[in-house]
Amino acid sequence: MEDRGFDLEARLERLEDATLKRSLSPVDRVAERGYFAAPAGGGLPVLESDEALVFAANNYLGLTDDQRVQDAARQAAATVGTGAGASRLVTGDTMVHHDLERLLAETKGTERALAFSSGYAANVGTITALEPDVIFSDELNHASIIDGCRLTSAETVVYDHCDASSLRSKLEARAATADGASESWLIVTDSVFSMDGTVAPLTELCDLAEEFGAWVMVDEAHATGLYANGGGVVQAEGLEDRIQIQLGTLSKALASQGGYVAGSEALIECLVNDARSFVFSTGLAPPAAAAASEALHIARHSDARERLWENVAHLRDGLESMGYTVVGDSQILPVLVGDRQDALALADGLRERDVVAPAIRPPTVPEGTSRIRVAPMATHDQDDIVTCLEAFRAAGEDIGLI
Ligand SMILES: Cc1ncc(COP(=O)(O)O)c(C=O)c1O
Repeated sequence: MEDRGFDLEARLERLEDATLKRSLSPVDRVAERGYFAAPAGGGLPVLESDEALVFAANNYLGLTDDQRVQDAARQAAATVGTGAGASRLVTGDTMVHHDLERLLAETKGTERALAFSSGYAANVGTITALEPDVIFSDELNHASIIDGCRLTSAETVVYDHCDASSLRSKLEARAATADGASESWLIVTDSVFSMDGTVAPLTELCDLAEEFGAWVMVDEAHATGLYANGGGVVQAEGLEDRIQIQLGTLSKALASQGGYVAGSEALIECLVNDARSFVFSTGLAPPAAAAASEALHIARHSDARERLWENVAHLRDGLESMGYTVVGDSQILPVLVGDRQDALALADGLRERDVVAPAIRPPTVPEGTSRIRVAPMATHDQDDIVTCLEAFRAAGEDIGLI
């Protein structure tokens, strides 16, 4: 009989041979430090005896183990329920969802906001619900934006990373086509790019959008909670009134799970009706909604953001003064290494010194640009930062990188 199955072993071997195979390493808790286990596959993981410092998480404000956030989740579980039990449109809509959405709308300066079960679902659901004719997308946009584009019948035009002049030339070329005048256009970008730490030139993108009559959608996944008044780059640059769709996740600085879209009353009503990832998916779990609300409140009203940015400045200075190239312009500090094996060796050297910051390599980043993505948290203290810098010095010297 013909074999019409899938040769998964061969696939895995190919990944292994190319040093591209990934594996799961559990940790005992989600915080700025923890006990990790070596990859155990399907076996029982065994936690190592030494605690490691985590410099790779998106838990930027370190709020996942904050007592107030944990209490909010606990309280919601006890009073509302552990899960939503149904889609929001059936019986899964609760007061904690509406509290969260009110706070998100206030933070983002919009009429309304809508919570999704993940940031991935928010991107895919929003792009497909809008049904644009043409999407202009930054070449380094997140996979969930790319997948949203793929799921529509829109033509996707990719412009060079953070390059407004590249976008302009694509807009001009499209406007000159026969259909150019009658189409609906969406310009979509991350605000902070997770692997490069770069920040999109949002003001220039808005200028272009207004010149060509397009809408702008900004994914603030890596910015929400970290900029002006707990908002994102959109708030830092005062662009609320020029950007039609602000979107993000609750799973990074907001220490929870889920995604959101913020915008006009009409936008949110359309998404409630037409975003398939909202309509046909169980509502966000109430403890996740309540935890995100509390984390957003803390992001807005505490010194957590200030502490994060101090740690970022200290680490960047330290790494650069050792001779490392640190790219980007945000809280994400990508340390460029280049060669994939060198990046893996540097990550191993850090790990031996109890600092967790894995190598980022293809296909996540292009060949020849492998790197260590260093992401400090507000809850790292000065000793933690010094330990991280010392580990980078010793590991880098060991393999002749610095
Ligand atoms: C820019 C960006 N958008 C969307 C997502 C998806 O968010 P979530 O993890 O909540 O699905 C992520 C992260 O995973 C992201 O980095």
